[in-house]
Parts: sequence; structure tokens; C-alpha cells
Amino acid sequence: MSSHPEATKKLLVADLHKMKAEGKKISMITAYSYPQSLIVDEAGIDIILVGDSLGMVELGYRDTVPVTMDEMLNHIKPVVKAVNRAHIVGDMPFMSYNISEEQAVTNAGILYKDGGCDSIKFEGGKEFVPIAEAIHKAGIPVFGHIGLTPQTAAMMGGFKVQGKSIDAAKSVLDDALALEAAGAFALILEAIPQQLAKIITEKVKIPTIGIGGGVHCDGQVLVLHDLLGLFKRFTPKFVKVYTDAYTSQVDAVKEFIADVQGESFPAAEHSFNMKKELVEDLKRALER
Ligand code: KIV
Repeated sequence: MSSHPEATKKLLVADLHKMKAEGKKISMITAYSYPQSLIVDEAGIDIILVGDSLGMVELGYRDTVPVTMDEMLNHIKPVVKAVNRAHIVGDMPFMSYNISEEQAVTNAGILYKDGGCDSIKFEGGKEFVPIAEAIHKAGIPVFGHIGLTPQTAAMMGGFKVQGKSIDAAKSVLDDALALEAAGAFALILEAIPQQLAKIITEKVKIPTIGIGGGVHCDGQVLVLHDLLGLFKRFTPKFVKVYTDAYTSQVDAVKEFIADVQGESFPAAEHSFNMKKELVEDLKRALER
């Protein structure tokens, strides 16, 4: 029951391209469950990413590496059921696309066909051009993800800003151009200098969505739990925390515990009554 004015119109790739052409900024957020997706779709978000950040913020893994295809599929399905308008991107977990084009197309097909998402995303630059081409040729829209790629952060010396030297910046720009040429319809630019993100955004025709990419990207993405203050383990510099939902939820549960202990819950309005005239009859009936 979304109150969004365009609640019944699903955002497609062409709509996202039109938004870039018209200079309308694109909002994107992660969600992993039915209730989370109802909330962000109701709010009017343009793109929902069922990201492999799932592993860290919902499944308690140290990083995104252990996330499996089954876990992604199990979380994409309820998101798809909840959403009316937002474009839904399914994230390909580590090692679900890294082995061969055949493996990548098969797994992209599972998320797209069985999961029901509107496109798939995977991490990696020019070295993944054959994978992007194969998935695109199979008829599945491809969302690229370049700059800092968390699945392979260990190879990058940790969670570090990418593209800071001239050579490194050229390499990230080459990644963007190569993925666009391979058929990617949009790109995540993660943790790169805003000056580089601006150049990439001007050079590619497809929308760029920044996460630590600065204000010049065509849109911005954040992990839902970061924005809501639900993930306390660490907060990257690029995150803006909009509320402290963790503390407000702890407080609500504490209040419930106190109400139970103090017998102020359930109150009369939460309880059921028998007709007055039956109460005495009931007591007599049960005493026998
Ligand atoms: O998995 C994820 O949430 C992501 C975002 C950080 C872009 O890939």
C-alpha cells in the first residue's frame, strides 16, 4: 500500500538512463527483507540493491566473502514480493561469476529468473569484460561495480580509497569505459576521489552511482543499516548516519521488559473479556 505517487510504475533501465539524461539524481539503497523493502519503496527510493553486504549486516559474517548464491536468492525473493516501483538489483556473491563465462551466466540467470530481480551486479573492472558481455548477451541487465571492490579488498591492501594516483585514476576510468562498452547499464563507483568520479560521470553515458564517490555522480547509494544506525561495528567516512534506530529499538524492547515486569502490559485495551453475566457461571462451571 505504497503512498508514492508513481507506486505502480516499475523503474526500468530506460527510466534510469532518462534520469541521467535529464540530470535527475538517482537514489539507491540496500534492503534484504520484505519489511525493509516495503519501507524503502514507500519512501520513494529509485533502486534497491540486495547487496552481498547482507553477509555483514544481516548474517553476521566478518566480510562479504562467505555469502552464497542460496543466501542471495533467499533474500532477493522477499524483496521482489514487497516492491512496486524501485528497480531491484541482485548482487552476485564472490566466486559465483569469477570462474568462467558459463558459470557467471548460469548464476546471473538464477538471481534474475528464479529470484525475480530486474538486473544483476558484480564487482570488477576491465578483466571482467567477457563476463559482462556474456551476461548482457544472455539478456540480463548488468550493473558494474568499480573502484573499491569489497569482495577482493584483500588484494587491494584493505578497504582503501582507489584511483588516487594518475595511473590508478586512468585505470579506474578504463574500467568504466570497458564495462560500458561491454553492455553494463550503470556503474557503482566506490571509494574514489570525487574529481575522478566527476570525470567518469561525464565520460560515460550510463548512470554512475557513488558510494564514497562524491556529489558529482548521477546518484548515491548507502547500505540501509549504515544510514539507519543499525550497524555499529564500523562506519566508513562516506556514510551519513540519519538516525539511531539501534538505540531506539533497544529502548523500545527495554520498555516492553519493564512493562511486563511491572504488569503495565498488557493493559485493558490489549486484553479480551467475557460477557459479565458469564463470568460467575464460568467460575462455578470450572469449580465442579
Ligand atoms: O553489497 C553492497 O551493499 C554493495 C554496496 C556497498 C554498493 O555492493
